Amino acid sequence: MKISIVQAGEQHIGYAEQICDAMAEAATQRGTGIARRKPEYIKGKLAEGKSIIALDGDKLAGFSYIETWSHAKFIANSGLIVLPEYRKHGLATKIKTAIFKLSRKKYPDAKIFGITTSLPVMKINSELGYKPVTFSELTQDEEFWKGCQSCKNHDILQRNDRKMCLCTGMLYDPERESKMAKLGQKFNSIKEYLQSKDKDKEKNKDQSKDQNNFSSKTSVKNEKESSLSL
Ligand SMILES: CC(C)(COP(=O)(O)OP(=O)(O)OC[C@H]1O[C@@H](n2cnc3c(N)ncnc32)[C@H](O)[C@@H]1OP(=O)(O)O)[C@@H](O)C(=O)NCCC(=O)NCCS
Repeated sequence: MKISIVQAGEQHIGYAEQICDAMAEAATQRGTGIARRKPEYIKGKLAEGKSIIALDGDKLAGFSYIETWSHAKFIANSGLIVLPEYRKHGLATKIKTAIFKLSRKKYPDAKIFGITTSLPVMKINSELGYKPVTFSELTQDEEFWKGCQSCKNHDILQRNDRKMCLCTGMLYDPERESKMAKLGQKFNSIKEYLQSKDKDKEKNKDQSKDQNNFSSKTSVKNEKESSLSL
């Protein structure tokens, strides 16, 4: 199976309807009440280069797009779909990785988040560096949370003052990641320094051993020589 995974553009607008149908069908099967995306909205994501499309020849195999919230301080990689015949071959992992990279390139300072009940999505997000968080860490943009209104569990979210629900919140925080990377670098340089110190110690030990051997040999030699001269 040779599938191309690319940043979508104007040339892919014709797939919008099929993408919306595939999302709606999957939502019905999973019993989730995700709002049906309108083809016009998906066309926008395709044309603006804010989505990744997977194609098997000219057949749609999968899709995901970028949404921005709180004036692009937060972004979400939404609408992940892999057509049933292409599932369980790692395609979602590839699409999610591609949309994540595209998001980092387009919005390097934004926090990337998602809320999900999907085990595959949780697994993929974890691999990408997302951490589970409470909803208080996510965007507080009203427009984002309005998307939950069509979910059958919306009453649970409301009952909990939007603090928790059945979905797990997951967040990739670039600031935290860069702090962790800097800490990692510091840790590595300390480790290298200690290792070089250890090596020096070993070297010094070997040298003093050699010196001891040398001096004991010369003293034996000297003793021999002095006994000879007697
Ligand atoms: C969820 C979905 C995108 C996964 O697509 P996929 O191409 O089959 O996923 P992958 O093959 O990349 O699998 C990713 C991981 O999830 C696991 N996985 C895939 N489907 C799974 C399932 N139904 N149950 C449990 N684990 C599953 C895989 O084993 C893999 O884990 P691993 O890395 O530990 O091996 C696809 O099933 C789908 O489109 N479903 C309907 C829409 C949907 O649920 N979207 C997510 C909305 S949040």
